[in-house]
Amino acid sequence: MLAVVHAAQLVTLRGPAHARRGNELRELAIIADGALLVEGERIARVGTSAEIEKSCDQHTEVVDARGCVVLPGFVDAHTHFVFAGNRLDDFEARARGETYEQIAQRGGGIQTTVRATRAASEDELFSLARKRADWFLRNGTTTVEAKSGYGLTREDELKILRVIRRIGRETPLQTVPTFLGAHAVPAETDRETYVQLVINEMLPRVSAQKLAEYCDVFCEQRYFDLESSRLVLEAAKRSGLKLRMHVDQLTNGGGAALAAEFGATTADHLEQTDRDGIAALASANVQPVLLPGSVYALGSHKYPDARAMIQARLAVVLASDFNPGSSPSTSMPMMLSLAVTQMTLSPAEAITAATINAAASLSRAHEIGSLEQGKLANFVIYDCADYREIAYWFGISLVRDVFVQGRRVSTVSS
Ligand code: NIG
Ligand code: FE
Repeated sequence: MLAVVHAAQLVTLRGPAHARRGNELRELAIIADGALLVEGERIARVGTSAEIEKSCDQHTEVVDARGCVVLPGFVDAHTHFVFAGNRLDDFEARARGETYEQIAQRGGGIQTTVRATRAASEDELFSLARKRADWFLRNGTTTVEAKSGYGLTREDELKILRVIRRIGRETPLQTVPTFLGAHAVPAETDRETYVQLVINEMLPRVSAQKLAEYCDVFCEQRYFDLESSRLVLEAAKRSGLKLRMHVDQLTNGGGAALAAEFGATTADHLEQTDRDGIAALASANVQPVLLPGSVYALGSHKYPDARAMIQARLAVVLASDFNPGSSPSTSMPMMLSLAVTQMTLSPAEAITAATINAAASLSRAHEIGSLEQGKLANFVIYDCADYREIAYWFGISLVRDVFVQGRRVSTVSS
């Protein structure tokens, strides 16, 4: 048994095992001088230190969290962390004034990462991904959704999905796989031919080999327009995959309405989405996944209208969008900072969006996302006494210890 005691604030997020909306987003269910009892990989009890200490005996390993905040591990519901190479040239070009779209049109952007990822072996990709798994853990994230999308051939997409699965099995980071074959049209072919390849060659194998739970599409004029997105989404549904979608990132192209029409689990980005798009998401109960890291890193100022989404009673999610092009950061605390300073979320709303709501968007709210009896013991101890500090001190990691399924993750303090 393991006991964590004397947390200045144990942020439990106790409540219904589904996504929180409206005022529920502000309810963190904090226990002052809080404690946790862990048996094996699960939480056995949550309470005050006085209550939990009664259940400890001489065999209990006791972790003193005096002066610290304890939070559920962050659940990052949108990442692209399996890729090779980097996008340093794009980064510098944007500083000279080129836009993300201009860079993509001259063959940079996603295509640069596709070339490097195709050239990498499965083992090389795994060792790059393992390093990034450490980055997530060191910043307090214990579960990530992870997308393919930098292979764009049948074999290269399957290779990426196998690496995602292997990270989940061989490192403490838990992964939820998403097939994003429709991320970009590869340079060697045209959109129509490629959509057929995604539908006829990739999706059947992804689903037969159970390599993904979700299918995603980059729904955007120069990538996959509404018509081609529709074809991919229909095929994905027939294959039994649930849907997540990149919509309205660069232009307001009706992607939110399409996500609603298909009953997608999530609609992600939404920077350009207007009131009608928000109403469509609300009517179909689609969860919006907000990705302020990509707005920040692209030097844009147009953040999604998070307040209007909360007012429309949408169960907002906050994620990193970690990828080499538009959001090279695995730091959920940085995303919390952006959510508070740029999107007017309160620190409590941001934490709920990055934990239980993110878990709900991955169909895992019964297992992770809050600190409650019976759930997996995935939690993080921060070196601060008020949860708001996690969003307040930006660019500074306050993570002291990370636990996944009751075990301390060694990379953090080593
Ligand atoms: O979510 N928008 C599409 N995909 C990523 C960027 C991918 C890249 O630039 O490599 C995103 O921002
Ligand atoms: Fe993305």
